[in-house]
Amino acid sequence: CGIIGYIGTKQTQNILTAGLKKLEYRGYDSVGIAVHDGESVHVRKTEGRLSDLDSQVKESPVAGTVGIGHTRWATHGRPSNENSHPHTDSQKEFAVVHNGIIENYLQIKKDLIEKGYKFQSETDSEVISHLFSDLFDGNMVSTIQKVVRELEGAYALGIVSQYEPEKLYAVRQDSPLIIGAGEEENLISSDIPAVLEYTRDVYILNDGEMAVITPEEVTLLGVDSGNSIQREIFKVNWDMEQAEKNGYDHFMLKEIFEQPKALEKTMTGRLNKEAKQVEFEELNWTHEQIKNWNKISIVACGTAYHAGLIGKHVIEELTRIPVEVEVASEFRYRNPIIDEKTLVIVVSQSGETADTLAALRQSQHLGAHVLAITNVVGSSIAREADEVILTMAGPEIAVASTKAYTTQVLSFYLLGIYLSEAKGTLNDEFKEQLVEAITAIPEKIEEILEHTKGIQWYGESIKDADSVFFLGRGADHAVSLEGSLKLKEISYIHSEAYAAGELKHGTLALIEEGTPVVALMTQEAVSEKMLGNIKEVKARGAQVLGIAVEGDMKIWDYVDETCFIPAAFSILTPLLTVIPLQLIAYYTSLALGNDVDKPRNLAKSVTVE
Ligand code: G6P
Repeated sequence: CGIIGYIGTKQTQNILTAGLKKLEYRGYDSVGIAVHDGESVHVRKTEGRLSDLDSQVKESPVAGTVGIGHTRWATHGRPSNENSHPHTDSQKEFAVVHNGIIENYLQIKKDLIEKGYKFQSETDSEVISHLFSDLFDGNMVSTIQKVVRELEGAYALGIVSQYEPEKLYAVRQDSPLIIGAGEEENLISSDIPAVLEYTRDVYILNDGEMAVITPEEVTLLGVDSGNSIQREIFKVNWDMEQAEKNGYDHFMLKEIFEQPKALEKTMTGRLNKEAKQVEFEELNWTHEQIKNWNKISIVACGTAYHAGLIGKHVIEELTRIPVEVEVASEFRYRNPIIDEKTLVIVVSQSGETADTLAALRQSQHLGAHVLAITNVVGSSIAREADEVILTMAGPEIAVASTKAYTTQVLSFYLLGIYLSEAKGTLNDEFKEQLVEAITAIPEKIEEILEHTKGIQWYGESIKDADSVFFLGRGADHAVSLEGSLKLKEISYIHSEAYAAGELKHGTLALIEEGTPVVALMTQEAVSEKMLGNIKEVKARGAQVLGIAVEGDMKIWDYVDETCFIPAAFSILTPLLTVIPLQLIAYYTSLALGNDVDKPRNLAKSVTVE
């Protein structure tokens, strides 16, 4: 979900809806705003997209210079008008927007109903507005303290009240929230892009903190203590243009094409082309410390998890340190074997994914050292990890992640080389060749991006398929998992990725005449084996697209279509093979007329469990 809030001298309605537009990627099954017009609170909200809210406020506008807004991604309670935020109490004295989950809401709701409170929605969030009504003591700050004491779970809150309508309030616990500090106007938001039109000066709220905001002033307080907190302003130095589409039809396509630049930026300052080595200013590890780690555990969700799977191949190959990879939602509830001899690497584009953040905290609690690979400065994960490698992908807006993935994968190559120094596992010659080969990757991606016609045709050709299978061995298998996820996410076509050698243990039964199969064959050591697997599916009638390295003509005779990627070391091909897979998903989705950037049921940033 996404939160926006404004207080200042301007009419707030359009500022809120414009802010929500920028936050829509965080969820988009319902939207709403609440504005105080000097006399009372007015709410406009609806199930559906922002355009539905726009029509509502066009018909029935709300005047006023203080307000809050919300774009929702349903967790408790289906998408509906009633379940949309803002929520109010029955007298409409308090309006609240909430991002997160109130775990004990059923108990609170039961108590409030016994006291006679009437609920309008099925959400966990509505308990908050009624709690305000129940606990109000004449002072908003102390009432917020009382309300928050009742809540268990995660929340970022934006609040306006009938009692102090000249103030906007914000609270944060385990859900992101920032404050944009402007001239005679201040904003709150779940994310920085939504405030950039007004200011580049941002306060990042920490867990357990609240803000009392007027047009002129932002006062930060500890929720428990009530003491005021001094916080330095964080200056945003990236451009709004970077977060706009730049002439591309979709953010996803723009972000796919941005990958060469994003990779170059992620290499800058880390990959020393002259010395042919990797340097990480942000990692102050001694060789002794590195040698002390007997295991690396990579934890992440979704696409970031898939980047972690490549990370395992790379780090094990380059350093011989054993690496485990696990999805964060499993890791956190599994009593993992982690201690001070483990390096835990959490990977997260947003730096806010609830499960990944919980895994980070649990790992630290168990004594492990935690490195984060993330794309967002100042995100919860970036702040709590012991060290951070920032991927320099810039804002990623499309729900289906592309440039974040490749920059994460690149970070693993750099990290692998960096760790190998301490372990003494690479000979200088190979290391130099590898550094040089990594430097050449952005150019090779450019080459792939210059010839997308064939891929477009292929994407369109599979739009009516019931199922698409992705096959590969080794690192190719890890990439094929990502290709399959991309296709599922935005085309809604069923798809699976298989380690090609596992085929005959079950999946082969699903291959029939015409079933599309995308076969990756870039791993030199197993290419003969892979060819064998391609023959197996061909013999059952599959329509095979083979993805291979330029010049590897042996695949030609066995597949229906071929897509060649520029030649590269086997270990590096994931950065290249994923590009056609991203494009296939894009063009299939496009051919189906789907909302490419905002696929159904999904959100960009999952800050709830
Ligand atoms: C959501 C997004 C995915 C992303 C995953 C992890 O499901 O839709 O694209 O891979 O979260 O997000 P993170 O921000 O932690 O990388």
